[in-house]
Amino acid sequence: MPTLGRSLSAKDGIYRAGIVGCGRIGCGFDDDPRRGYVSTHAGAYRRTPGVELVALADLDQAGLERYGGKFGVRSLYNDYRQMLTQEQLDVLSICTWNGTHLEIVENALNTGVRAIFCEKPIAESLSSADVMIRRCDEDSVILMVDHQRRFDRFHQHVATYLREGRLGKIQQVTCYYTAGVANTGSHLFDLLRFFFGEVEWVQGIYSKNESNNQNDPNVDAWLQFDNGVLAAVQACDVRYYTIFEVNIVGALGRLRITSHGFDAQFEEIRESTRFAGYRELHVAEAPLDPSGHREFMLQAVAHLLDCLERDQKPLCSGEDGRRALEIICALRESADARGRRIQLPLASSSIIIESR
Ligand SMILES: NC(=O)c1ccc[n+]([C@@H]2O[C@H](COP(=O)([O-])OP(=O)(O)OC[C@H]3O[C@@H](n4cnc5c(N)ncnc54)[C@H](O)[C@@H]3O)[C@@H](O)[C@H]2O)c1
Repeated sequence: MPTLGRSLSAKDGIYRAGIVGCGRIGCGFDDDPRRGYVSTHAGAYRRTPGVELVALADLDQAGLERYGGKFGVRSLYNDYRQMLTQEQLDVLSICTWNGTHLEIVENALNTGVRAIFCEKPIAESLSSADVMIRRCDEDSVILMVDHQRRFDRFHQHVATYLREGRLGKIQQVTCYYTAGVANTGSHLFDLLRFFFGEVEWVQGIYSKNESNNQNDPNVDAWLQFDNGVLAAVQACDVRYYTIFEVNIVGALGRLRITSHGFDAQFEEIRESTRFAGYRELHVAEAPLDPSGHREFMLQAVAHLLDCLERDQKPLCSGEDGRRALEIICALRESADARGRRIQLPLASSSIIIESR
């Protein structure tokens, strides 16, 4: 890794963090009084020991000043490249739209930044994602993508629970999502990979339930995983309400992860009280508790610092971000071809993804 001839931190043991993009996920979600947990990169840096949020960059001056005031950050930049050259950042959050991520990563390299926390989807194309991953790798810069559920203990417990076979053979998985195959789909596909491993093939058709972004349509999909699990993914219309659910039907019961991952229901097998000789599913106490500590963003930032300290690969790496993007590209290709089956991995794709 190139050395800049300076100590790692501005203050002893304190990493210097900066954010480019002070919109919703960068800063704004924490304005929402209904969110009882830290929901932004800025909020997470502010609350995490060992890191100081020293600079913000955004094209929008009003937003910059507003969040500079709110988070107590004095160094504010309209041009993120100036922030990178002047602030000697150790950690950079990229909270802009996906089409800008590659350019920002490339400008961050060789400025001393050692870890990048990049919003999803990782990039606008597979080739851009490949360059981001390769360049970070070459420069020994940690690249972590914000598919948040990987950092959350409840989802980690579900992954272990499934891997240990405690729900038995998985018969079927059905998921519901809203607001675009790239925007929300990227979270869902990453979560399904986290639970079930790599995808063998996908099929998709454009959903009649429209997305709120015409450049990021809704797709109804089938995902076949290498381990034999088949997942059905159904899109709904976010104008009615928002939904993010994963319904896992195993041989030993059913686990439903609902309310965007904040709730869960479990059903176990019992003798039917209605039909002699049959067994049915009955609501039972969930073996995994979704309540309690659900601070995805705090866990993510703590994990990133841990990766820096230990020089470890993050739980959601650039490769993981690329895999989610690959599923999105494959589904768009499939939907364009009226549901043609698309085998993964994709060597390349000409699909450009716009997620807002
Ligand atoms: N992980 C999550 O749960 C989650 C949630 C929301 C959004 N996101 C992702 O985060 C990204 C941003 O989404 P958002 O909803 O916060 O968008 P947003 O529009 O609210 O904010 C984006 C901000 O980036 C700024 N910006 C854009 N280009 C810039 C540049 N070149 N230099 C400086 N500032 C620039 C804009 O002015 C804007 O303030 C998207 O990729 C989105 O998919 C992730």
